[in-house]
Amino acid sequence: MKNERTGPGFTIRAMRPEESDKVAELIYESTNQWYETHGHNRIFQGKWKDCRIFTDVYGDIDPGCCLIAVTGDETILGSCFYHPRKTHVSLGIMNTHPAIGRKGVAKALLIAIMDIAKDQDLPVRLVSSAFNLDSYSLYTRQGMAPFAIYQDVMINVPESGVEVDSIPGISIREARAGDESAIDALEGEIWQTSRQGDWAYFIENKRGIWHSTVAEDESGAVVGALVSVAHPGSNMLGPGLAQSPQIAAALIQTELNNHKGKSPVFLLPANNRELVSAMYALGARNCEMHVGQVLGEAPEINGIVMPTFMPETA
Ligand SMILES: CC(C)(COP(=O)(O)OP(=O)(O)OC[C@H]1O[C@@H](n2cnc3c(N)ncnc32)[C@H](O)[C@@H]1OP(=O)(O)O)[C@@H](O)C(=O)NCCC(=O)NCCS
Repeated sequence: MKNERTGPGFTIRAMRPEESDKVAELIYESTNQWYETHGHNRIFQGKWKDCRIFTDVYGDIDPGCCLIAVTGDETILGSCFYHPRKTHVSLGIMNTHPAIGRKGVAKALLIAIMDIAKDQDLPVRLVSSAFNLDSYSLYTRQGMAPFAIYQDVMINVPESGVEVDSIPGISIREARAGDESAIDALEGEIWQTSRQGDWAYFIENKRGIWHSTVAEDESGAVVGALVSVAHPGSNMLGPGLAQSPQIAAALIQTELNNHKGKSPVFLLPANNRELVSAMYALGARNCEMHVGQVLGEAPEINGIVMPTFMPETA
């Protein structure tokens, strides 16, 4: 591997497919342990196998794009996913084994991914928890800077569902194959980002866990899109995009109706009072805060952007 590097007592290399279970177990143990020892609830409430969703989905979209830190006897000390796109490289979930914190494992993984982006002259983006100063600091120590603040909210969706706002001139429908190119064009307008392959992957839904909705104007132009995932390892709305907070609210309401009786989480741009207020009116409760960070040029956001964690869509 071109970006293979070594640290004190470990080597960074690409994860092999047969190591997926071990990485899933590491994600589960490391993330849950961090939250529990910092006074929060476990993030993954089920079994470690649920975290196979990370290796499976990243494996579908970007085979070979998970780096691990291994000792001489091949013990996995840390892992991090990355997601190379046309406009940037996105950094996915980063984990170090709970027993070996502060030995430079995460820093070495991060630098290896930054080198991959540098080779392609692309910015690196991610979303990091504002609760988690360990990860916030890890990234900012390497030169990343915040460009957006998001509120993570949770809504208990009644079994009867929620009402969807009607917006004059806007229709909401299920996304279909072929929509990805219009969504990609909209994403370019809203925040100079391109990830058409991701949208095609969500719409195709070969794992049966995604649902995607689009909003169209009277001319049939796509003016918003929102995906959601329903899996024991991730029950979230996002990624999403919309030209206005009204369109975003209608897309969210529509996707919530695919999660009746459940409590999905989603990220709202904290500076958009109109959308935040509309979600409070629906019963949204804040559960965490996230920071969009970038190494390189920050995107200018002209509309609504809702990132997600899996796959990472900063
Ligand atoms: C966050 C996490 C990945 C860090 O892993 P780690 O291997 O212990 O981190 P490293 O030893 O490589 O480096 C951490 C860096 O952050 C710095 N750092 C940590 N806390 C800091 C603080 N409060 N202020 C300034 N710098 C700080 C460290 O000094 C170090 O930088 P340095 O080498 O320049 O000194 C690890 O705690 C973890 O897996 N947590 C659970 C999962 C998680 O939170 N993942 C991130 C979210 S996706």
